[in-house]
Amino acid sequence: MKAIIWLFVCVFFVTGCRREAATKIYVHVPVKSLTVAHGGVSCANPYAAEAGLSVLEAGGNAVDAAVATQFALAVTFPLGGNIGGGGFMVLRTADGEVAALDFRETAPAAASRDMYLDAQGQVIDSLSRFGGLASGVPGSVAGMAAAHARYGRLPWAKLLTPAIKLAEEGFPISAWEAGRLNKYKADFQKFNPGPIPFVKAARWRAGDTLRQRGLAQTLRRIAEMGRDAFYKGPVATAIVKAVKRTGGIMTEEDLAGYEAKWRTPITGYYRDYRIITMPPPSSGGIALMQLLEMVEPYRPDTMGFHSAAAIHLMAEAEKRVYADRSEYLGDADFYPVPVAALLDSAYIHSRMPALPERATPADSIGPGHLPRHESEQTTHYSVVDSAGNAVAVTTTINSAYGSKVFVEDAGFFMNNEMDDFSAKPGVPNQFGLIGKEANAIAPGKRMLSSMTPTIVERDGQWWMVVGSPGGSTIITTVFQTILNATVFHKSPDEAVAAARFHHQWRPDTIFLEKGGFAPEVLDSLRARGHHIVERGGIGAVDAIFRTDRGIRLVADPRWDDGVAGQ
Ligand code: GLY
Repeated sequence: MKAIIWLFVCVFFVTGCRREAATKIYVHVPVKSLTVAHGGVSCANPYAAEAGLSVLEAGGNAVDAAVATQFALAVTFPLGGNIGGGGFMVLRTADGEVAALDFRETAPAAASRDMYLDAQGQVIDSLSRFGGLASGVPGSVAGMAAAHARYGRLPWAKLLTPAIKLAEEGFPISAWEAGRLNKYKADFQKFNPGPIPFVKAARWRAGDTLRQRGLAQTLRRIAEMGRDAFYKGPVATAIVKAVKRTGGIMTEEDLAGYEAKWRTPITGYYRDYRIITMPPPSSGGIALMQLLEMVEPYRPDTMGFHSAAAIHLMAEAEKRVYADRSEYLGDADFYPVPVAALLDSAYIHSRMPALPERATPADSIGPGHLPRHESEQTTHYSVVDSAGNAVAVTTTINSAYGSKVFVEDAGFFMNNEMDDFSAKPGVPNQFGLIGKEANAIAPGKRMLSSMTPTIVERDGQWWMVVGSPGGSTIITTVFQTILNATVFHKSPDEAVAAARFHHQWRPDTIFLEKGGFAPEVLDSLRARGHHIVERGGIGAVDAIFRTDRGIRLVADPRWDDGVAGQ
């Protein structure tokens, strides 16, 4: 029996206005976790999870289901799901083959190192965050086509069918999505003077139907003609028109020339677990491996889960790892990223040869000295199938609704991924991350990412599929989720739900989820010299675990994320 549970709840809004006092609306409530026998999907939106499941049920494999989920998220999770952005896929086939697919955006050919600086050499933040100049050349459609060409089983067009239906017929939005659409209405109107499906006269409410007929038409073209329907012809023309209308420099040649690239994943052992994760142009895989290795000699498991001692240890490691990120990481096709040196055990241990008793000030930490110099909106989904294939994908248009520029003739938002480059050495981007030469802007270069799609293997098969959105917090979110499940022996649901914290070297602050940590733990961290800031939710982990009882699909309880499986 199909194990997805569709629940529709009737909600009555009580407002001050008598006319509206009993408006009946229907909202889809996501299933947050489920144990299944064969396979399933965990992602940011329940309709997209169901889209992926429908492909598994039709005989598709995990890659087919991932492709269907990606296109469905582009419809049902416009905040971060996309065809106007990019991302990374890490996969492990049932027979142990591992692969990493890079469909990260690229800088347009007319991009230049100082394109976001004013005449005085100061960064004009808004240019890399809003409008046409903020967009990199999108990679998502090329990425899905490349993954399908190498690993897919079902016909390409079939994988887009659920997304087309969702776009054409619409779906009822959640309270959370309604809130987002209302919040960004002024931005949408600023960059898109014409009508777009995300703007209406009245406020959005939970249960309102969101229909995207322009996007349905674009998806239908991609279904019929493949990736070229996006990168050439009317859709490419529409992208360039929207980008140029809002001050951008992307050309049809940039789009026609885009290629997704297969990369060699970062792999390594942590205790009995083999970690398979994303190499550059993401910083995520290298940083994750450094973090796991750096904390291990101090045995975080003996310190206690969420203890001040464990948080202190992890934050000290995070400072050193993010300092390295700022110096050494970028697109390895353009800059000699010292991957092997950064992952060298002796080097990693030299970064923290003893655990300081008190917080080390960020100013007294810098990038490490390598022996030689070689070469907040994103969304993650995890998929496994009955054959034992596992896929982890993190995909992004960077900020919520990307650059806010809507491609009016093709129905989707463009990314603002150019903000992930270092616009000027030492000047923070929207996530407070700083960078230097390694991540300077250059034509055709991929901007450095923190996305960390990861598969953890144990006893020769996949054991955990994990990843998260969250800009700079992605790496520390994945790091904590892995530690929760391994050294702290939390159940899958607990590992995902546990309160999270984050340090990224600069600012010199531990950010902790408000209400998630005992007051005495916060006091103890302050007493050690840490600057503490409590904030809202960090990350959104949509993960899958192999357990003794079956496959446990777990969606992050913080947001609308949901699972579907069989
Ligand atoms: N856009 C966020 C990241 O790639 O890290």
